[in-house]
Amino acid sequence: MLSLLMKTEILLPTRENIKRAAKLIRAGELVAFPTETVYGLGADGLNSTACKKIFTAKGRPSDNPLILHFANLAQVERAAKILPAAEKLFAAFCPGPLTIILPKTKFVPDAVTGGLATVGVRFPDNDVARALIKAADCPIAAPSANLSGRPSPTTPQAVYNDLRGKIEIILNGGNCQFGVESTIVDVTSPVAEILRPGAVTKEMLEEILGEIKVAPSNAAKPRAPGMKYTHYAPKVPLTLIETSTPDELEKIFRREIKNLRAENKSVGVMASHELINNLDAEKIFPVPYGRRGDLKSIAANLYESLRTFDDLPAQIILAEGVDDNGLGVAIMNRLRKAATLIKA
Ligand code: TXA
Ligand code: MG
Repeated sequence: MLSLLMKTEILLPTRENIKRAAKLIRAGELVAFPTETVYGLGADGLNSTACKKIFTAKGRPSDNPLILHFANLAQVERAAKILPAAEKLFAAFCPGPLTIILPKTKFVPDAVTGGLATVGVRFPDNDVARALIKAADCPIAAPSANLSGRPSPTTPQAVYNDLRGKIEIILNGGNCQFGVESTIVDVTSPVAEILRPGAVTKEMLEEILGEIKVAPSNAAKPRAPGMKYTHYAPKVPLTLIETSTPDELEKIFRREIKNLRAENKSVGVMASHELINNLDAEKIFPVPYGRRGDLKSIAANLYESLRTFDDLPAQIILAEGVDDNGLGVAIMNRLRKAATLIKA
């Protein structure tokens, strides 16, 4: 059994190591690398066999398309039809945490798009990612580098925990800056549509494009095929308590903790420092995710906080929601998908 597994190394992104990683990509192998959002699991985006390996390594359903990562516009022309709305978005937000859905060309294999006529185009704002794409000299197809269904990785160690033995190299870029995946916007219809919220918010997109639609995130047949699968889930059930006033929240948490303890359950709490400081520490496994209202740091810590419970004996997690505005929309989208139960 062990002999089938390869050795997985976490390597600093020196020039030599990036060269080695690029060589693996060119040879049709997989490499994990940092981006400004989450770590990606990369393959040569124009090599069908290589892209199929991504699905096997992650345990990902093959109808869930991959996005392509580029280092410059010239590279995109071969893969996608650059519509005028995309040109405006490139100028405003790229490189940055945005993926733009465009009509694909014949050079993009079905293994990438799951047979769709469109492809996701993204310019990561991360020096290691850009150096890797340039050195490999091809678009890099990459989903988040987690096992399918698990929280996305925002540290090299999280990638290692999920993909150890399945890939040779994880390029170490430290902790990811944003912590939630890129905003996905489809510009192939006259009115652009947000398929997945992220750090480029609806308001920011509206400033450039005018009216924008938002695809419902709980649809049975979502426009981003991946959004229908279980996502971002920790290993134990998570109950999301959506926000109300701080006093009300504290009351609900105290009540839920009491009820669960009466059922002999050990309770994990993922919440703001402010809330956790007001709860009885000896009754819970506390995981603070940031200061209340500091959405940037909550987004950056979110997935690592969820993964912290992998190593704690909590049998159920109670999580504090945030306001559904700005970056909070992306955070709540992920928390709702991670939740087995939502209480308002
Ligand atoms: O920030 C990110 O976007 C990260 C980093 C690594 O770049 N990548 C990422 O990839 O989150 P992934 O595969 O975990 O999520 C991509 C999402 C999936 O929900 C997929 O269904 C959707 O994008 N998607 C990809 N191509 C699409 C297309 N042509 N039309 C609609 N949705 C698409
Ligand atoms: Mg993912």
